[in-house]
Amino acid sequence: MLYPNLTINENGHLAIAGFDTVDLAKKYGTALYVIDEDRLRQNCRLYVNSMKKHFGEDSMPLYASKALCFTGIYRIVAECGMGTDIVSSGELYTAIKAGFPLEKAFFHGNNKTDADIEYAIENGLGYFIVDNEEELGAINEIAGAHGISQKILLRITPGIDPHTHKAVVTGSVDSKFGSAIETGRAYEMVEAALSKNHIILEGFHCHIGSQIFECEPFCDAADIMLKFIADVKSKYSYRANILNLGGGFGVRYTEADPHIDIDANIADVASHVKKRCAEFGVDMPKILMEPGRSIVADTGITLYTVGSVKEIADLKNYVSIDGGMPDNPRYALYGSAYTVMLANRANETADFKCSIAGRCCESGDLIQENVMLPRPVRGDILAVLVTGAYNYSMASNYNRIPRPAILLVGKNGERIAVKRETFEDLCLCDN
Ligand code: LLP
Repeated sequence: MLYPNLTINENGHLAIAGFDTVDLAKKYGTALYVIDEDRLRQNCRLYVNSMKKHFGEDSMPLYASKALCFTGIYRIVAECGMGTDIVSSGELYTAIKAGFPLEKAFFHGNNKTDADIEYAIENGLGYFIVDNEEELGAINEIAGAHGISQKILLRITPGIDPHTHKAVVTGSVDSKFGSAIETGRAYEMVEAALSKNHIILEGFHCHIGSQIFECEPFCDAADIMLKFIADVKSKYSYRANILNLGGGFGVRYTEADPHIDIDANIADVASHVKKRCAEFGVDMPKILMEPGRSIVADTGITLYTVGSVKEIADLKNYVSIDGGMPDNPRYALYGSAYTVMLANRANETADFKCSIAGRCCESGDLIQENVMLPRPVRGDILAVLVTGAYNYSMASNYNRIPRPAILLVGKNGERIAVKRETFEDLCLCDN
């Protein structure tokens, strides 16, 4: 199995955290997201402890809540000592509802509206991660009108291509996010931030990409950012307190993906950062990271019920399920690989090649193509593994299909963290 919390029990059923998935499907219905809460807490603590150990006590991981957002998860990550990265007033509202300590919340995004800024300041947001000059001006004005000074980080694009390990100029310039160093824009933003009365520039942020398995691109990004911090220090006598290195560590979706050792990676980046700080003559800033996928992806699975099997001789076999691109758009969008299995026949030989089709009125509504299963029949439970990240958070109501429930399981038992949407919910905003 891909992860130790996924096992096959004595009935030949897939179990998650010891819970029989066939029983869960029967009890709660399908499609159903199931999240292993214990594993979620373990992943959070791994980041918290590892960052403290390698970067020092004042470092902190921020959970990138775009990966999976509902009130309960903000409570869990807060209990584990993490901050959070939010990207919209909707995520902020959810965090507020959950009672998340907002001094540990960092507001991202390349187009924060005045309403977003007002709402965040009124609620005592910790930090904005400022993307552009217009936003900087708006925050300064709105903070001033509220009689406060607002803490910010500036988003800098270091120009790293995480898949070639190279610093590439175009990667830096051609991005809708942040300010590039090599165009000089990043320096202009520092000057602008330092000149504003209601802005407290706390430091800098960068994010190089997602689903990255190697450590090198993170070290490269840290190099560029620390060099920038050193330049800024000599140019403006400004000392950065915080360096946020973003998210991006990969997770194992299939057997073909490597295992990733988060603690070892953090240790590598930390020793690199310390070395470079000494070389560049800068004090080590407080380090933040923003993991999303590597916190939640491997905590989740999705359960579906098989409806039909269509065999097209000499061509292809389709297995249709009671979900699809509305609850998991990642194959349709990115061709993402997933591991699928029959949860109720987990020990049977997988000798039937097929493509898993959703129930939408659209041929591209696929969860996976050319996977091997025991030949399914109507009523079988199909499990898609490692769906904790960017599934529910990217879900839609396409074809007026209600979103599935999220069930948390673990040593505290089982509880519905997000209710299944009803047909009535679908019409709530219709006038
Ligand atoms: N910080 C920033 C500024 C980000 O833009 C992201 C992800 C993260 C942190 C978290 O990165 P992670 O640790 O999750 O890799 N929808 C796509 C992923 C988009 C990621 C966007 N930004 C997917 O389903 O693969």
